[in-house]
Amino acid sequence: MPKGGRSVFRCTECGTDQPKWGGRCEACGAWNSLVEEAVGRTARTAGRPDGRHTPVGSATPVRLSEMHSTSGARWKTGLAEFDFVLGGGIVPGSVTLVGGEPGIGKSTLLMQCAARLEAQGISTLYVSGEESPDQLRLRADRLGGDAGAIHALGETRLEAILHHAAALPAKVVLLDSIQTTYTEALEGAPGNVGQVRECAARLMRFAKETGPAVVLVGHVTKGGGIAGPKTLEHIVDTVLYFEGESTLDHRLLRAVKNRFGSVDEIGVFRMTGTGLEPVANPAAAFLAGRSTGVSGSAVTALMEGTRPMLVEIQALASTAGFGTPQRVATGLDHRRLAVLLAVLERRGGLPFGGLDVFVNVTGGVRLIEPSTDLAVLAALVSSVHDRPVPADTVFLGEVGLGGEIRPVTAAERRLVEAGRQGFRRAFLSSRFRGPTGGLEVIGLEGISELARRLAA
Ligand code: TYD
Ligand code: MG
Repeated sequence: MPKGGRSVFRCTECGTDQPKWGGRCEACGAWNSLVEEAVGRTARTAGRPDGRHTPVGSATPVRLSEMHSTSGARWKTGLAEFDFVLGGGIVPGSVTLVGGEPGIGKSTLLMQCAARLEAQGISTLYVSGEESPDQLRLRADRLGGDAGAIHALGETRLEAILHHAAALPAKVVLLDSIQTTYTEALEGAPGNVGQVRECAARLMRFAKETGPAVVLVGHVTKGGGIAGPKTLEHIVDTVLYFEGESTLDHRLLRAVKNRFGSVDEIGVFRMTGTGLEPVANPAAAFLAGRSTGVSGSAVTALMEGTRPMLVEIQALASTAGFGTPQRVATGLDHRRLAVLLAVLERRGGLPFGGLDVFVNVTGGVRLIEPSTDLAVLAALVSSVHDRPVPADTVFLGEVGLGGEIRPVTAAERRLVEAGRQGFRRAFLSSRFRGPTGGLEVIGLEGISELARRLAA
């Protein structure tokens, strides 16, 4: 056994063990698939948070109906948007991973959570391997009052972290970050695939066996995924991504996996001089700063999880200088824009051949749903005719290649939210039947009707 029985290199593709690391698995030929794993005595004893050995059969099978229910037991942080994205608060014994680019506000978010939990008497341990206690203190001062009560620990060694968490004892352990944490059971440097996976797995066992909740910060790679093994996302219970344009002060917290709530929910925060502030009216967060009375702007309501959000789409069509006209799409797939322009040209009779076209979704939002097609077309038509769309109008509809306009899912919820935000009219498919949430609804068969209506 290698290194006195301490570790082997296991292929994540085919699962074979090899005594030494290599760029390629000798068994299956996969590249970069070998990760270091602890084996033998070290791994078995290191697996227990308290270092003791578990006798086989210490857990016995029970009927689910005979177990006492823990459903509904959640610790609310009081940071409304964070609790909402988690599905109602932090679940005891759960492991949550918060990923995001550097500087987006992950440490700030965790520290604010810790402060609010402490204020309710829920003991927390904030472990940082990234910042010195002095730096943490500076941030706490900036966040004001409550943050002073947090137990902070500057430590990167997993064994020591687990010891302190158990000794405190902490009900919520916040670890910043999983990439700076390492275990003595493995030889590799912190942040390498084997270390990240082993540390996460042991934190998971610690949480499940002894009850505290663990919140981990995870760094993201250039590609936008959480750095480390793919399996990291499988190990933990909940994966949240914290995102936003660093130039704008809005931050979105998005659940991409949640064993205790729904996925695709987003929470909206604003970064202020004194930390993150949940946005009180997230549905309208992206409409702030909208200029009305200008051509080329249209509003749609898209669904973020169960919540409708209103977003503005801007289009600018101008005579192309020379050569091939430009097509630039920000926040929207450029192939989708090409399809919509072709449909508008063929079915709506609007020639775009000689025009540069720029489309932009404001607030750093990305359009993924086809239900936003109609608003993109409305913005384009408005720009070509240089005629503003009435400011109190929303557009909801998917556009087909034949120029037909299709109904959207959850139309009623979108209409109700639009009504709440002061919109009075909605353009949607003539096939839509259902409550209109008090809005005047204009049903359209196809896009030629849209062009006519907006030109009128
Ligand atoms: P931070 O939480 O350190 O980000 P991360 O841990 O994701 O790298 O936040 C970094 C940015 O947030 C930094 O540029 C400063 C800014 N910030 C504020 O604007 N207000 C605040 O109250 C705090 C604490 C940070
Ligand atoms: Mg940080």
